[in-house]
Amino acid sequence: MFLARLLSLIPFLALPLPSGSLSLSLSQPRQSSLDTFVTSESAVALAGVLANIGPSGAKCEGAASGVVIASPSLTSPDYDYEWIRDASLVNKMLIDRYTQGRDSSLQGTIESWISSMAIIQQVPNPSGNVSTGGLGEPKFNPDMTAFTGAWGRPQRDGPALRATAMMTYASYKLSQGNTSYVQDVLWPSITLDLGYVAQNWNQTGFDLWEELDGSSFFTLLSQYRSLQQAAPLAALYEDAGTASAWQVQADNILCFLQSFWDASSSYTLANINLASTRSGLDANTLLASIHAFDPSAGCDAATFQPCSDQALANHKAVVDSFRSLYSLNSQYAPDAAVAIGRYEEDVYYNGNPWYLATLAAAEQLYSALHTWSSQSSITVTTTSQPFFAQFLSSIQPGTYSSSTSEYGTITSGVQGMADGFVGIVQQYVGPEGGLSEQFDKSSGTPTSAVDLTWSYASFLTMADARAGLVPASWGASSASIPPGACQPGPQPAMVQLTFVEDATTTYGQNLFLTGSISQLSDWSTTDAVALSSSAYPDWQATVAVPAGVSFQYKFIKVEDGQVTWESDPNREYTAPSSGSATIDDTWR
Ligand code: NOJ
Ligand code: NOJ
Repeated sequence: MFLARLLSLIPFLALPLPSGSLSLSLSQPRQSSLDTFVTSESAVALAGVLANIGPSGAKCEGAASGVVIASPSLTSPDYDYEWIRDASLVNKMLIDRYTQGRDSSLQGTIESWISSMAIIQQVPNPSGNVSTGGLGEPKFNPDMTAFTGAWGRPQRDGPALRATAMMTYASYKLSQGNTSYVQDVLWPSITLDLGYVAQNWNQTGFDLWEELDGSSFFTLLSQYRSLQQAAPLAALYEDAGTASAWQVQADNILCFLQSFWDASSSYTLANINLASTRSGLDANTLLASIHAFDPSAGCDAATFQPCSDQALANHKAVVDSFRSLYSLNSQYAPDAAVAIGRYEEDVYYNGNPWYLATLAAAEQLYSALHTWSSQSSITVTTTSQPFFAQFLSSIQPGTYSSSTSEYGTITSGVQGMADGFVGIVQQYVGPEGGLSEQFDKSSGTPTSAVDLTWSYASFLTMADARAGLVPASWGASSASIPPGACQPGPQPAMVQLTFVEDATTTYGQNLFLTGSISQLSDWSTTDAVALSSSAYPDWQATVAVPAGVSFQYKFIKVEDGQVTWESDPNREYTAPSSGSATIDDTWR
């Protein structure tokens, strides 16, 4: 009896908040108003989520039972669809609340979504049918029929996120002794999604922003998590061969994921294997970190835990990339929280801050605080030093136990920055607490889709992290990177371009090709592509470049190291999306 009562106190003892927040709330009145806002907005957010779920949600008339529409906005933009990504993240949040005993009313909503997903998985769609790739279809109509318009497809995060939500529910059901629901209802859907992930992770697809065809960090880390989380369940429901095949692919994904870290810039590239000139700084990676959070995995960098040195360095780099991008951010101090969008080059609705991205920046920090609190120390490495220096400029690499003044200064600084992101959402929240997709980069007025279900869900997961209510472990700590070389990850589709340049040369002079992409030597004149003169005066070379890539180039004449360039401007070309092409030019 006594022991049970003692144990029931333990989750509260583990909260990161008491000491830090008490002193903050005494010295800063804003803290208590933020607490009040988080409480009131959480109620608005939960109601906002439920209003967008069929059949009886107040704002989604006509949506089938269990279907989660992205937003009730019907035009500019039309978001009256169920995106598998959004719906899976929303249901993961509902499942965490329900399985942690915080809201018993959610069971019906969760189970109707699970039933609707079993139907949707079988709907043939432009990505294929259930066994030919259809599970990668990004969105469906609210009546569960296929959306057949043009779209960035496939998006391979959906099946992984859906499996993760359902497996979290399955583990809970098993702990309740309800094996038949797992075996008969959940596992048939989960096994389809995991089979898709294991089979297709090694191919490119569209990123979570539905724009780039390549390898997305968010997608790969979500895929890794799904296969790793599957291990104990696969041991129960799959034959040994399938279970071990999944584990092999999980390890391969983890290995490949390590190549997104850009050591020279000290941040994680959001996308690789694509023809893009973006910086790679993107809220993609903040979202990846919070969705891979495992409270038992410490500050592991291989799985990009929120408090890992790589994820913290990346947090600073991503946050800093937005500091001067939006005029409304000029009101915030250097090193303080600012409004965060998707990525700096974004032009969707003019490119604005997003509520869910700003809240993800907060949630990563709250999750990190939780882990530091449970391990009673903070480790600073040369990689994470610039992050920590935001709060204590003199901080040096080392481990600081919770009794040190460094620990106290850093945790209250991190808590303050995290609260700052939430304070920005409070500042720009819509009427009656409404959360749209974006808020205007100068005026802060809510814009794009109203009542975005994912915005509301992101508020609730942030609030949970802030309160120290952490999700269940998913096995990240047993992660292992296979020894030796990684299996190569997805390869971008390449097309063959034959360059033919009509050029008169003198004896001893040779023609080369150089240009703005790596296949054309990134404008090098010493590593440029050599052309053959076998059909003189036509010089030619065939080069494989990423499909669809746009680039600039020029020919150069080289003799004894002496370079003669063609006249300006640079030549420009966009490669076809498949096949090959010949480009005829004449020296100028
Ligand atoms: C709609 C997508 O949902 C959004 O993410 C994207 O930025 C725009 N289309 C433009 O491609
Ligand atoms: C556009 C976003 O870029 C994408 O991530 C999201 O799934 C859809 N809108 C629906 O909310």
